[in-house]
Amino acid sequence: MEETTVKKRMLSGIKPSGDLTLGSYLGAIKNWSARAEEFDCFYFMADLHAITVRQNPADLRRRTLEQLAQYIACGLDPEKNTLFIQSHVPQHAELGWVLNCYAMFGELSRMTQFKDKSAKNADNINGGLFTYPSLMAADILLYQPDLVPVGEDQKQHVELCHTIARRFNGVYGDVFKIPEPYVPKVGARIMSLTNPTAKMSKSENEDTGRILLMDPPEVIMRQFKRAITDSDTEHCVRFDRENKPGVANLMTIYSACTGETYEQIEAEFAGQGYGAFKPKVGEAVVETLRPIREEATRLMKDKAYLESVYRDGARKAGYVAEKTLRKVYKKVGFVAP
Ligand code: TRP
Repeated sequence: MEETTVKKRMLSGIKPSGDLTLGSYLGAIKNWSARAEEFDCFYFMADLHAITVRQNPADLRRRTLEQLAQYIACGLDPEKNTLFIQSHVPQHAELGWVLNCYAMFGELSRMTQFKDKSAKNADNINGGLFTYPSLMAADILLYQPDLVPVGEDQKQHVELCHTIARRFNGVYGDVFKIPEPYVPKVGARIMSLTNPTAKMSKSENEDTGRILLMDPPEVIMRQFKRAITDSDTEHCVRFDRENKPGVANLMTIYSACTGETYEQIEAEFAGQGYGAFKPKVGEAVVETLRPIREEATRLMKDKAYLESVYRDGARKAGYVAEKTLRKVYKKVGFVAP
């Protein structure tokens, strides 16, 4: 049944192109379960977007499901959020084509991500990489959301979505709602454990100081014992992002996991060195991630449940998407089937 709701709608896509890290959990995902109280939320696994760079098919399939399982385990309740897989709702590709015809070559050429990715994948600068933003505009506009939460690197794409929507509305009348950009409340900003001036990134390997949500306790403990602290002489646990970025990062993580303030942490570890602090941070992280890892592992084994989630989600999403697509097809002059 469709709820008669006055909630604002929010939509976001997640590319299944890597494993989730402690950084993305503490910095963002942790806060998403609360969003459902305020907003009507749609989240999808952006598999159509993922193939703009070459993917191993078995990996893509596994990652898409793992990512869905992990998001649910992090607290995204499928009863309260619409969770689906992009390729299950064909209206994305269909509207994507139409919007390609309203996105200008020059505009697409100026996208920073296109330039970066072309440089990195010089042997595979395909059309999909170029028209990625039109598909993303379709993802958004199909659902007429009020808000689209994105990271800094995707802001340019959302701006182009506005340009395309305004251009289309300018020709055909008010078809698309222009979504507001939404800057999510900033969670903890978690840095690499071995290079505390760089963000903890999912694409880096284990040696570069990242923790994955699915890492077992012994891996997490090893990573924290090896974490870079600082070569200062006072050797005490004190928050100083500028001069002691390694310790500050560990304190941020500890605080996010335990709820303690920096003052409380400083008091707790007064007189103790980094050697005592680092394993404590590791233990706090292990305990924070344990229920998530266990739940995600359980869900991955329950294929029937995952299937029911993404089928339900696709049905709900498809219903909304189809309404928009019909309107668009009519406006541009397609004969009704
Ligand atoms: N491009 C986004 C990213 O790389 C993922 C994405 C695809 C998305 N479609 C979207 C995000 C629509 C928000 C809205 O992270």
